[in-house]
Amino acid sequence: MIALAADHGGYALKEEVRAWLDENKIAYKDFGSYDGQSCDYPDMAAPACKAVVSGECDQALLFCGTGIGISMAANKIKGIRAACCSDYFSAKYTRLHNNANALCMGGRVVGAGLAIELVDAFLHTEFEGGRHQRRIDKISALENK
Ligand code: RB5
Repeated sequence: MIALAADHGGYALKEEVRAWLDENKIAYKDFGSYDGQSCDYPDMAAPACKAVVSGECDQALLFCGTGIGISMAANKIKGIRAACCSDYFSAKYTRLHNNANALCMGGRVVGAGLAIELVDAFLHTEFEGGRHQRRIDKISALENK
């Protein structure tokens, strides 16, 4: 199950990605925005990220104007490793090396075609583990200080 969330800056891109998830029969829970009206990205990120941490959802796809604000908010939720990506290599390697559980994109930065390529890579790339797990454990240790 994928958690979706967006503010007004990311709403249109979320809707494009949501349509792609429908076409590909990938289950999701949409935490809004549902209308693209002005709202605050931390309010949208928090419930989607909490659903990932609780295990209700496996990963989150988050959208704002740049992808940056919502990634900053997401990374304040303990257990979330959110990556703001606008290129294919980063979207793939943040799964391989960082075991990222949230992909953030900017609706004013990437077009729908590229965003779908990023989402596809993110959702279908497995974490490599090994030495990368040790580094993630060190991120978790920082969270727990
Ligand atoms: C909203 O105008 C905009 O600031 C927000 O979507 C995002 O880009 C923040 O990082």
